[in-house]
Amino acid sequence: MALVSSTPLLIEARKNGYGIVACNVHTLEMLQAVVEAAEECSAPLILQTTVGTVKHLGMDYIVAAAQTAAQKASVPIALHLDHCQEFELIVQCMRAGYTSVMIDASMHPFEENVKRTKHVVKIAKALGVNVEAELGKVGGVEDDIVVDEKDAMLADPAECAEFVELTGVPTLAPAIGTAHGIYKGEPNIAFDRISEIARNVSVPLVLHGGSGIPAEQVKRCVSLGMAKMNVATELRNAFSGSIKQSFIDNPTELDPRKYMVPAKEAVKRLAIEKISLCGSVGKAHAISFK
Ligand code: 13P
Repeated sequence: MALVSSTPLLIEARKNGYGIVACNVHTLEMLQAVVEAAEECSAPLILQTTVGTVKHLGMDYIVAAAQTAAQKASVPIALHLDHCQEFELIVQCMRAGYTSVMIDASMHPFEENVKRTKHVVKIAKALGVNVEAELGKVGGVEDDIVVDEKDAMLADPAECAEFVELTGVPTLAPAIGTAHGIYKGEPNIAFDRISEIARNVSVPLVLHGGSGIPAEQVKRCVSLGMAKMNVATELRNAFSGSIKQSFIDNPTELDPRKYMVPAKEAVKRLAIEKISLCGSVGKAHAISFK
């Protein structure tokens, strides 16, 4: 199957109370590992790359690899551009074959966020591409985007409704207390805020900062309306940690085809764990794309 837009996948997930895992990948092996995980779980999957990864690998290589994976896979796969502030890059990614994009204008005042999001939604809709936007401010570090803890800000439920209404954005990432990166203590998730936002807007909601959230809290977020969970740091740590260990165990082994094997396995295991937590095991065929 070709890459699909994430919109119908996420609508179905929100309607039926499960979440789709969006995995940030940086290498071909990471991409293959999370696709294998989704296949094994018979779960829909969102592959995503940050702007930094687009600049590192090149969008054409990423699209080609994701398209190949999607064509070979028996589960629906979308390709998403994570946290992008640059309009030109968003359009280039859509043209190159990304089936979902995030316009992150959350650092701007509400009206400016509306204006920028609306502009992207208009183009994306014409191309059948999903759009995600952020309201409030998710704390932590994601690529070059650094939001200090004291500047993180929860999304306002009334503003969420107004934002969706004004922009027509098909998926919304409201800041609800999670942060990018690994938490120092337990995350301080505002579950009541999620419920209130979910009552106000019917579009699928996106949970950022998926790494390190305790299992029960992930399940609770999903049950309240979070239809997509982003996971980056934990996957990257699993991959790099395994390679680091391989070099400690066997410093003379210089063949990537050897040390990448356990690294891929580590990423795959973690992705399976997250997919199971979000409840999307067996949901690959919830929608027919024929
Ligand atoms: P983590 O790095 O905390 O998993 O966050 C990922 C994310 O939200 C990407 O947008």
